[in-house]
Amino acid sequence: MRHDHLITSKQLSRGAIETVLDYAAEIDADPSAVADRHADTLLGLLFFEPSTRTKMSFETAMKRLGGDVVDMGSVDSSSVKKGETLADTVRVIEGYADGLVLRHPKQGAATMASEFVDVPLVNAGDGAGHHPTQTMLDLYTIRENAGLDDLTIGIMGDLKYGRTVHSLAYALTNFDAQQHFISPESLQLPREVVYDLHQQQDGTGIKEHDSLEEVLPSLDVLYVTRIQRERFPDENEYQKVAGEYQIDADTLAAANDELTVLHPLPRVDEIAPEIDETHHAAYFEQAHNGVPVRMALLDLLLSDDKRIGGDSDE
Ligand code: CP
Repeated sequence: MRHDHLITSKQLSRGAIETVLDYAAEIDADPSAVADRHADTLLGLLFFEPSTRTKMSFETAMKRLGGDVVDMGSVDSSSVKKGETLADTVRVIEGYADGLVLRHPKQGAATMASEFVDVPLVNAGDGAGHHPTQTMLDLYTIRENAGLDDLTIGIMGDLKYGRTVHSLAYALTNFDAQQHFISPESLQLPREVVYDLHQQQDGTGIKEHDSLEEVLPSLDVLYVTRIQRERFPDENEYQKVAGEYQIDADTLAAANDELTVLHPLPRVDEIAPEIDETHHAAYFEQAHNGVPVRMALLDLLLSDDKRIGGDSDE
């Protein structure tokens, strides 16, 4: 795999992650310093699934670097409706743009699409697979609030279909992090992900639970996720777990006072709005961090003079 496609967080070393986070912090402190870095650059947005944060923050990031975007628009208004394949679509749009951002409902779609293009392609979410740029802004927010080493994190909710969880879990194996995974049995992490995590951390940093109660007091960060209703093959199976693992102010009474609560958003009912006003809530800050982090990533991926370091294992 070329380093300038970003498909999964598995391809990122600790050094590469730190390069992006350090650069994002520099940009955050002085965005005007990079305002003209990509004046002639066009980024192609191909979103085959709904998005608010990822799409709009990529667009904001590209424009804040001096560039612009070309947007395929909704699937319904594109030639996908006429039966065009993903391979043909990306091959056409790479002729219009200097880089591509792809969100697609099929796991593996970004890997497949990247094999057909020479411009950098970023996976903005592939089904229940990966969402590596979300991970970078998650790591940025964790670093700001709790630090990335000597970290105890709880990751709760839909761990089976939650692509942000898979990407974050792999990335955290680069750090001294104890990861507690909290879910109903039917939404546990896929076994192949657990196997990979154990391989990378000798199993010492990975624990699975069905209850938040037993781990909450030990957590520095609680990362809450939405049950991914759209991924369930059977609505009845969704109804069995809908509404489980919600948190409210009473839940947090047992938490460490320094606990940071994160969520990739959108939320449905997992976090009661009363938590928004507490010092624990950092999920809107997390969403806002998407702009400097994606500015850093885009600059590193689109520049000839800057590269994301680290080795690829894809
Ligand atoms: N976190 C996230 O991916 O949000 P969107 O689906 O709105 O892009």
